[in-house]
Amino acid sequence: MVQKSTYSKTAIWLHWIIALLIIANIGLAELTEDMAREARGPYMDFHKAFGITILFLSLGRLIWRLGHKPPALPATMPGWQIMASKVSHFVFYALMIGLPIGGWLWMSTYPAPVSYFGLFEIPLFPVEGNKPLGEFLHEGHELGGKAMLVLVILHLAAVAKHQFIDKDNLIRRMWPI
Ligand code: HEM
Repeated sequence: MVQKSTYSKTAIWLHWIIALLIIANIGLAELTEDMAREARGPYMDFHKAFGITILFLSLGRLIWRLGHKPPALPATMPGWQIMASKVSHFVFYALMIGLPIGGWLWMSTYPAPVSYFGLFEIPLFPVEGNKPLGEFLHEGHELGGKAMLVLVILHLAAVAKHQFIDKDNLIRRMWPI
């Protein structure tokens, strides 16, 4: 496998599309939190469909990554930063896949419909009426959503550190043009 100095075009585009969808999804959930149930419904319908899209794009991204090695990190990078980047990437994948599966499974416990942008209904898991599982997944989804927000902020802080303090232009590895 040839190792290049930037991520592949497919990895770069998947990264940015998934990143925008994650930010939109956190925004949709958090900014509508205090709305009346009916008024919030359409926003949460988008949240659910975005979440399902994130799930399948993330699975695609993971499969792509297994066959396409990421570019090497700068030789000067300290060991703790290499470790921090590996751990954060692992937690990102766990949340990008676990959070939407959890939300989907949680909706299946009611059962509450999950429409894919009004085009078709997503099939639900056979866990209808399992209240304890639903409550567990509800708690887990809120916690996972908060963890995702913290991770996104840490990720952006790391990018800013490399760009403005270390000035090593690491962002070029993931820049789409
Ligand atoms: C990566 C994808 C997703 C992210 C980042 C995400 C993130 C979030 C966040 C941050 C919240 C607010 C939690 C809080 O109250 O603090 C939330 C709530 C919610 N999510 Fe997701 N979510 C995702 C996928 C999904 C999916 C696939 C579904 C269902 C199919 C779903 C259903 C819901 C529902 C119904 C709520 C409202 C919870 C409430 O206020 O009681 N989410 N999500």
